Amino acid sequence: MKTLRVNLGERSYPIFIDEHILENTAEFLKEKVRHDQRLFVVTDEHVAPLYLQPVLNSLEQAGYTVGHYIVEAGEKAKSLDVLQEIIGVAIQSGLDRNSLFLALGGGVVGDLTGFVAATYMRGVEFIQLPTTLLAHDSSVGGKVGVNHPLGKNMIGAFHQPLMVIYDTHTLKSLPVREVSAGFAEVIKHGLIWDASFVSWLESHAEGLLRLEPDLMKQALYRACSVKVNVVSQDEKEQGLRAILNLGHTFGHAIESLSGYSGFIHGEAVSVGMVGASLLAERLGMAEHVFEPTRRLLKRYRLPVRLPDTFDEQEMLDVMKRDKKSKEGKLVMVLPEAIGRVQVVKGVDETLVMEALKQLKEVE
Ligand SMILES: NC(=O)c1ccc[n+]([C@@H]2O[C@H](COP(=O)([O-])OP(=O)(O)OC[C@H]3O[C@@H](n4cnc5c(N)ncnc54)[C@H](O)[C@@H]3O)[C@@H](O)[C@H]2O)c1
Ligand SMILES: [Zn+2]
Repeated sequence: MKTLRVNLGERSYPIFIDEHILENTAEFLKEKVRHDQRLFVVTDEHVAPLYLQPVLNSLEQAGYTVGHYIVEAGEKAKSLDVLQEIIGVAIQSGLDRNSLFLALGGGVVGDLTGFVAATYMRGVEFIQLPTTLLAHDSSVGGKVGVNHPLGKNMIGAFHQPLMVIYDTHTLKSLPVREVSAGFAEVIKHGLIWDASFVSWLESHAEGLLRLEPDLMKQALYRACSVKVNVVSQDEKEQGLRAILNLGHTFGHAIESLSGYSGFIHGEAVSVGMVGASLLAERLGMAEHVFEPTRRLLKRYRLPVRLPDTFDEQEMLDVMKRDKKSKEGKLVMVLPEAIGRVQVVKGVDETLVMEALKQLKEVE
């Protein structure tokens, strides 16, 4: 078992990473959750048939009273309507201010359930049980929320979980595309902070893509460590935490212009990180970042090129509306070297347009 700790004073919490630990969920709760606290598991329709029963069994056998709710799979579930549905069921099941929610699933279930917990009766505790590779990112750090028709993650809060229980065995049932998309964020954590982790990801790509248990545990431990380090220093994104957005300004624009179909999040971030590396070289702030970034992402079966159907001017317009941008000026996270990034304010738009053109030629 690998264990990490997010240090945030009284909001500190552990992350447990190991195989086949969902069956023992109750063991982890023992010292933190009382038996008079009502539990409520939220999951989605893909995850429920695979992993809900072992979790319920473990909790019920340990003497907890547990309810559950299954949402539809996919980004659509991150909505105020679904939030309202869950809160309705929770009220009817008699959950009070001492109750605790458990999020069993990927980033969608985690963000949604975390926001339910942040708002239910002005806030109750919750636990993350991530089941996707991407969720190593979303389950740590306490950003929770839902989407608004006018924008992704527009309604939300900072609400840290009580703990994260990461059963790496659940990753085995993920569709291959979701595995690669998850690796995009793992690679991101290397690119922003840890050059030796990037080399390690390069040399163990084959085993990692086969999801070999020991390698996966190490990869998740190292990727989560980066996130933990950053979040422990800047919980509410006053500064440093922004570096977690490497590739996301380009990436969000790609997601938005493709109508959130065609590219899944990790894929869009992959193309975005290649874009950021091209832009950094054009700005003269880095050398030799584009080629290693491109090569590594390709190794993990990720897209590295912007399709011709994307219009550069439209991309730029959407990028300027990014949450990080200030007064219409682009603020972007760009690499200085492999393993090191910088937040650059007022990025020259002409260079962004050139980088976007070049991004369409990448192979
Ligand atoms: N809060 C944060 O800091 C943060 C960070 C990154 C991403 N996010 C959010 O995370 C979401 C994306 O997360 P995701 O990629 O995990 O998506 P997801 O939760 O939609 O999961 C992807 C798909 O895999 C299925 N699935 C989940 N676990 C499975 C398993 N073990 N086996 C088989 N199928 C499984 C799901 O049902 C879904 O169809 C986005 O909404 C994004 O905004 C949040
Ligand atoms: Zn992301």
